[in-house]
Amino acid sequence: MHPSNSPTLFIGRTEPEGLQFDAWANQPLLASMEQGASKWPSSCRSGTCRTCMGQLLSGTVRYEIEWPGLSSEEMAEGCVLPCVAYPCSDLVLRPGY
Ligand code: FES
Repeated sequence: MHPSNSPTLFIGRTEPEGLQFDAWANQPLLASMEQGASKWPSSCRSGTCRTCMGQLLSGTVRYEIEWPGLSSEEMAEGCVLPCVAYPCSDLVLRPGY
């Protein structure tokens, strides 16, 4: 595969377990964490139930859905919904809020 066609890979880590996982830019964080054997909570997997909510300790994410189930205040505080959040950088996150 030509390098420009390769999906971008970032390094993710979950706290407090300290599990490092491959955070592919082209798939939701939840899927990457599960591939990395993280026991991250989830339910709807579509950005509405908030079961998977976590807090971003470092790094940035983007969303492909118009407005995930987070208030603007929660987003400003670093809350993320990993089932619909795509990584834009290396990142660290912890479950809950
Ligand atoms: S699993 Fe429901 S919002 Fe992420």
